[in-house]
Amino acid sequence: MALITWTPEQFATNVSVHDQEHQALFERLNKLDSTLASGDRGAIGAALDALIDVVGKHFASEEANMEKTGYSGLAAHKAQHDKLVETCLDLQKKFHAGAADVTPETTAFVRDWLYNHIPNIDKAYGPHMNGKGIA
Ligand SMILES: [Fe+2]
Ligand SMILES: [Fe+2]
Repeated sequence: MALITWTPEQFATNVSVHDQEHQALFERLNKLDSTLASGDRGAIGAALDALIDVVGKHFASEEANMEKTGYSGLAAHKAQHDKLVETCLDLQKKFHAGAADVTPETTAFVRDWLYNHIPNIDKAYGPHMNGKGIA
């Protein structure tokens, strides 16, 4: 069963590029989660790297649109992004050094972060960006 499923009711920001990025991100998170049971560190590491790659690209994409449209919530929003990136990069480094594992608690943590961030923080930029012609 998928760890996280995108539905418009729960996650739509009404900015199509970011809605698509969120769906791609969920796919990568589900892939990482489903790889854990194999215990294959190579596959887990590759799935972890792939997830962190799309997370970084997605955050940069949102921040660029917030910047471009003069969104007043940018700094507070970026602070949340930066904190997650820091946590991810720390885990990535430790995992590849053999000093940490990726566990179901890890993927649940990312899922819960998304459950909070997208509805409460991302959705708030929707009307603003729509008003600036980004839909
Ligand atoms: Fe987002
Ligand atoms: Fe965001």
